[in-house]
Amino acid sequence: MPEAVLRPRRLDALLGVPHALPYQGSKRALAHTIVPLLPVDIDTLIEPFCGSAAVAVGALYAGATPRVALRDVNAPLVGLWQQIIDDPNGLATEYEQIWDGGIADPAGQYAAVRDRFNLEHRPSDLLYLLARCVKAAVRYNAKGEFNQGADNRRLGADPARMRLRLNRTSAVLHGRTQVTAGDYAESLRLATALDVVYLDPPYQGTSGSGNGRYLSGLSRADFSTELHRATSAGTSFIVSYDGSTGGRTYGDDLPSELGLLHLHVAAGLSSQSTLSGEVEQTIESLYLSPALVERLGGRSAILTPPAE
Ligand SMILES: C[S@@+](CC[C@H](N)C(=O)[O-])C[C@H]1O[C@@H](n2cnc3c(N)ncnc32)[C@H](O)[C@@H]1O
Repeated sequence: MPEAVLRPRRLDALLGVPHALPYQGSKRALAHTIVPLLPVDIDTLIEPFCGSAAVAVGALYAGATPRVALRDVNAPLVGLWQQIIDDPNGLATEYEQIWDGGIADPAGQYAAVRDRFNLEHRPSDLLYLLARCVKAAVRYNAKGEFNQGADNRRLGADPARMRLRLNRTSAVLHGRTQVTAGDYAESLRLATALDVVYLDPPYQGTSGSGNGRYLSGLSRADFSTELHRATSAGTSFIVSYDGSTGGRTYGDDLPSELGLLHLHVAAGLSSQSTLSGEVEQTIESLYLSPALVERLGGRSAILTPPAE
């Protein structure tokens, strides 16, 4: 059970933060709660399940960390991040060519780009697929091929808007970001005493084999073992792990033996239930490691609401 429920926050420091990628599971809203949980002596914020890296981009943008390290098991997604940082205009031009090529026949263009992506893994093709696919949700078949369908009501962000987003995101990340592809566990093990690791693994409900979401699932037992190792090593970390919508919970809590500070955050209305006409609150679970709690001045310092 959580020890406290945090009220959702809106940080002025995150006003205007850029979002390069639409991505199901993005923690754009939760970033407002997580960024204030970074200690002032932080060296690097490591985000090893980065996806659209909403927390890392937000933390850099808000000046809450001097540098970030992004990692994801999805290598083409990591390739996309590298090009966003190094060559946002080249990427924007490729996106524009693909987008323009799809005006007459959006469904045909989506199918052709998806086929090419599965052969060549071009970053600009992935960007187009993310902009156009259903719910911005990546899905893969058993062969690791992207198989999500198009939302043919949407053409994807128009090229001028995409160029602006990519340039603004690159400006935040450039020169301050390391990007690698691979498993989260290595990043967690390599973290130093001054780093903070923000872990946002796939939801337990989506981690079964054959589910196809995010390319790779993760077992709760393996994840708990890695967190135990990190806690014993004195690593500072924050985990967002499942939650609930309208009273329905997703997955089990992390084991209490880990000794983590467990918080609930009222994260706003569920977009899923809003679509179906229901109004339901989404509650996110956050867990803080003992080393981080100590760096932040102890539990009471974290649980005392900030002055408005
Ligand atoms: C819930 S999403 C993260 C969303 C992210 N916080 C954001 O704001 O967009 C989980 C991510 O973990 C990645 N992933 C899954 N298993 C992984 C693993 N074993 N190691 C590293 N990344 C993994 C997926 O590819 C996916 O991008």
